[in-house]
Amino acid sequence: MPDRRPARLVVLVSGSGTNLQALLDACADPAYGASVVAVGADRDDIEGLARADRASVPTFVTKVGQFTSRDHWDRALADRVGAFEPDLVVLAGFMKLVGEDFLARFGGRTVNTHPALSPSFPGMHGPADALAYGVKVTGATLFVVDAGVDTGAIVAQVAVPVEDDDDVDALHERIKAAERVMLVDTVGRMAREGYVVDGRRVRLGG
Ligand code: GAR
Repeated sequence: MPDRRPARLVVLVSGSGTNLQALLDACADPAYGASVVAVGADRDDIEGLARADRASVPTFVTKVGQFTSRDHWDRALADRVGAFEPDLVVLAGFMKLVGEDFLARFGGRTVNTHPALSPSFPGMHGPADALAYGVKVTGATLFVVDAGVDTGAIVAQVAVPVEDDDDVDALHERIKAAERVMLVDTVGRMAREGYVVDGRRVRLGG
């Protein structure tokens, strides 16, 4: 195997960070081929930041409210992320849309995980919207972030059944269990094998 340095991941979170934790656990194995070099958030006092602290990974918080405009926030976020020289930026439950400046710097190497099977149910309420619609199968999607809301080219998807007695929390927890596995598998492959984004088609392996 070629002697390659681990891919540098910056992970952005807004909440409990179970997807982040799955990545941190995977990165503990050198064979995984990636390392979380920083964790950023748009808010304080979240379990995602505590998880990074416990793993001795540097953290930063860049809140929209600290800036006079959304564009300034976006530029500041891009600067904070850029300081860690990431190969790949992973949005793992990050509840903000990144903007033009961020995408100018990290477009094509920023992925987001969404708790629905795109193109169904974009936005903040994927599990609730799937339940309300009455679908029998939903899931999670990992995609390359573009300027839209959960519209980017799809890297991986996993299907999850909807059970008759599901409420939103039960369904979201089942999705998250599958989502973590998909995220870890796919980010690891992106790190080790490379990937090509060709319009809407993403191929793993250089
Ligand atoms: C995940 O299910 C992720 O897909 C979702 O938030 C959850 C975060 O869980 N993200 C979105 O809905 C973004 N639109 P976690 O904090 O435990 O990783």
